Amino acid sequence: MLDSKYSIRTHVTQQLDDSLAGQEVKLAGWVGKRRDHGGLIFIDLRDRTGIVQLTFDPDESGGSAFALAEAVRPEWVVEVRGKVRMRPADAVNPHIPTGSIEVIVSELSVLNISKTPPFEIEDGIETDESVRMKWRFLDIRRPEVTRILELRSQVTAKFRSALVAHGFVEVETPILTKSTPEGARDFIVPARHTSGKFYALPQSPQLFKQLTMIGGLERYFQIARCFRDEDLRADRQPEFTQVDLEMSFVEQDDVMNLTEDVLAEVMKVVDYDLPSPLKRITHAYAMDTYGSDRPDTRFDLLLQDISDWAMGTSFKVFAAAPANGGAVKTICAAGAGDWTRSKYDVLNQKAIAAGAKGLAWMAFPSDIADGADIMEQIKSPIAKFFTADELIALKKATGATAGDALFFVADDAQVANEVLGVIRLELADMLDIPREGFDPLWVVDFPLFMHDEDGDRWVANHHPFTRPFDEDVHLLESDPAAVLSYSYDLVLNGYEIGGGTLRIHNEDLQLRVLAQLGHQLEQAREEFGFLLDALSYGAPPHGGIALGLDRLVMILAGCDSIREVIAFPKTASGSDLMTEAPSEVTTKQLKEVHLRLA
Ligand code: AMO
Ligand code: AMP
Repeated sequence: MLDSKYSIRTHVTQQLDDSLAGQEVKLAGWVGKRRDHGGLIFIDLRDRTGIVQLTFDPDESGGSAFALAEAVRPEWVVEVRGKVRMRPADAVNPHIPTGSIEVIVSELSVLNISKTPPFEIEDGIETDESVRMKWRFLDIRRPEVTRILELRSQVTAKFRSALVAHGFVEVETPILTKSTPEGARDFIVPARHTSGKFYALPQSPQLFKQLTMIGGLERYFQIARCFRDEDLRADRQPEFTQVDLEMSFVEQDDVMNLTEDVLAEVMKVVDYDLPSPLKRITHAYAMDTYGSDRPDTRFDLLLQDISDWAMGTSFKVFAAAPANGGAVKTICAAGAGDWTRSKYDVLNQKAIAAGAKGLAWMAFPSDIADGADIMEQIKSPIAKFFTADELIALKKATGATAGDALFFVADDAQVANEVLGVIRLELADMLDIPREGFDPLWVVDFPLFMHDEDGDRWVANHHPFTRPFDEDVHLLESDPAAVLSYSYDLVLNGYEIGGGTLRIHNEDLQLRVLAQLGHQLEQAREEFGFLLDALSYGAPPHGGIALGLDRLVMILAGCDSIREVIAFPKTASGSDLMTEAPSEVTTKQLKEVHLRLA
């Protein structure tokens, strides 16, 4: 807690209360709101901990203090001396902790003046984010932003103390390094001493933390900055922070249990009791049921598989998908049965944008009784393709009743799941489904590989150092799609807040996995020689996880964007509006690193 020790003041505003009435105090801070009531002047004095009302009375404040109080303006920096006193009952402000007192000022000195700030230094302003970011040093001065940075600091401190208590060693790994593949583009830095060579900034400390295990440290952690040159979103920044850890001589449950115990400590910061043990669902179940590998499980709108039913119908679009190895999946949404046509069209467009051929729908308006003829119960452009018996069977299978709507995707099962995963979130928004509190869970057993974007080669689902299930290793070459891995993502309210795996600790197995990823022996040696060497010198079994600190704090603080919880964040296009980075460099600087601009 901030107090007045080691400062020019006797108290910070947070320490002021009724018990100090009559006592003289010395305070310092910024001038907030200022009210001139003819004979009296009131000024809100703000420091990091809060505000207190300063009162200037020509009879009690001395001439010079009163005259200065008339001159000061918002955001001037002042130091005051005065006496704490109780406010009259009708002047008590119940909205601030110091609302029952005021400080009647005897001396005032101005430590610095200020220009008029571009926005009010107070909570709840509607100023454009770009303006706040350009003047971020003023934005940080606003109490709600200060509180978020304090929360972040508390969370980091809890992680650190909990990990240290469990025997973890904090290790700093290089920033100027060689690329570690985490699936994004590298930021690169030209090397001055060796023309044509570059460092890469780490996408994560992955290989280094594994090397500390081979180095025998057994438990490593780092509050690690990671750099990834990828398209940014509300929950993605080009540089972000991980709580990164690695453990030796462990099984998957050990890493997961440790993570739960540490997270339980951290969540106490927001008075949340983490359930123990956390729910676990498999990746396959998550995709089938929620259409997402990071499901928001605070509401249902679950995906249902109606392939068996669809296969028997005469609607070609539906019958063909399962017949060709795909699926027909549906979501039954209560409350969507009475929408106007345009809302269904909006969802159809969203589904197409997400990769579907279309989003078929059937609405069951609430003003039509369940007992009515089935054709009369249904409003849908596709109802005409089905017989009454088929529709009755569908209604039964999905549990749809008056007031509901069904949304369908017929496609390859993965496409059907992913698109309905997107539609599920849209529906939750459109139906105003309440999503409150925290619902943390693990998603486990990810496939080792997935297809790259073009679908013509395998890429690692997590990263290339992830250990396949022992019982699936024999399928690595013959059926790579079927190989599952020792892997676990921590999901909170629809965000992936952490991910980890057990690692391969055997050189031959690492080479086989790299080969599947297209790194033949020579290339593998060139890129990962140091790791392969290390694996051949007594690497212990090991595994770990990295938690996204920014995302976790964003959720704990109730923010919509990780920019809000980063002191000096970047915009969606990666620039810093305050420092104006990235910026040009001189020809001399370029020449020194052997570069010329094209
Ligand atoms: P992964 O790539 O899953 O794993 O990252 C771990 C966690 O970091 C967060 N995160 C991000 N946060 C903000 N902006 C980004 N651009 C961003 N990218 C990721 C997420 C994610 O869950 N080395 C492995 C960990 C391991 O295997 O131990 C790794 O980096 O919350
Ligand atoms: P059509 O007969 O092609 O006009 O399609 C009838 C309805 O089915 C339209 O609402 C389409 O959006 C929808 N639709 C088309 N293809 C699919 C599909 N693969 N899955 C789900 N709905 C689809």
